[in-house]
Amino acid sequence: MPIQLPPISRRRFLAGSAATGVSLVFDHKLFAAQPTDPHSWVLLADPHIADDRNQIERGVNMTDNLKTVVQEFIALPKRPAGVLIDGDCAYGTGEPGDYATLTEQLQPIRQAGIPIHLTLGNHDERTHFWNALTEAKATKRPLADKHVALLQTSRANWLLLDSLETTNVGPGLLGDAQCDWLAKTLDANADKPAIVFAHHNPQKDNAPAGLKDTQHFFEVIEPRKQVKAYIFGHTHNWNVTKTDSGIHLINLPPVAYVFEKGKPNGWVQATLQPDSLRLELHCLDRTHQDHGQVLDLKWRTG
Ligand SMILES: [Fe+2]
Repeated sequence: MPIQLPPISRRRFLAGSAATGVSLVFDHKLFAAQPTDPHSWVLLADPHIADDRNQIERGVNMTDNLKTVVQEFIALPKRPAGVLIDGDCAYGTGEPGDYATLTEQLQPIRQAGIPIHLTLGNHDERTHFWNALTEAKATKRPLADKHVALLQTSRANWLLLDSLETTNVGPGLLGDAQCDWLAKTLDANADKPAIVFAHHNPQKDNAPAGLKDTQHFFEVIEPRKQVKAYIFGHTHNWNVTKTDSGIHLINLPPVAYVFEKGKPNGWVQATLQPDSLRLELHCLDRTHQDHGQVLDLKWRTG
């Protein structure tokens, strides 16, 4: 499994502390022998981290939101198998400083022994992202100029796609080469359920800011019955629906701000079952009516 930001081992953590000459008190809780649930995944979208940790957008401090979310899931009784971040990692234009702050904010996850996989949104900049997240850059990529990955697990395969077309321009695009890679990868791994994960929402006529090549994308995933779900962010609008052919469409809530008052922000815990996916919504506002919502999404057959 390609790991884009691997966990930081206790030895590396201590060596790093020594190298910086900073005396740090080692927190044994970070490296506690916490059991890992191999089927549990943390799903995040749209953290929008700015260089300035005090940056506020729509009344929200994005760094504070990410910090809270991270504290919540690293405190789970069982360590999740990984964290998937569904794009718009950076604030607006994907500046190097945004990724420097992001990397710093992801450290507690790595120190807790949890690998992180990131995808890119329209508010990211691919070269700055790769330059800042050097381990992500070093990960062997099937497509040289796109940030894609196949994560194989015992119950399902995750296919992480790159829908960033132009930084700071709303719509996204996979492109023919990526759709071809997706088709070939799905065909070569047809024995397990597949979950596709990318930033942009499927584009409808009345919502032109989504995935521009939705039709091509759906021509790839609809007939391949191993595809059970498509997970995306971008709209900052928690929502779960299903296509006529039975593919679950899961629109993650933002870690950052919502576009519409009353919508939840926070994170989702996804647990793979043999024939379904269990989602649990964790709202930053624990008094939100949707906090704790649990959905069991049965896989389509075939
Ligand atoms: Fe966003």
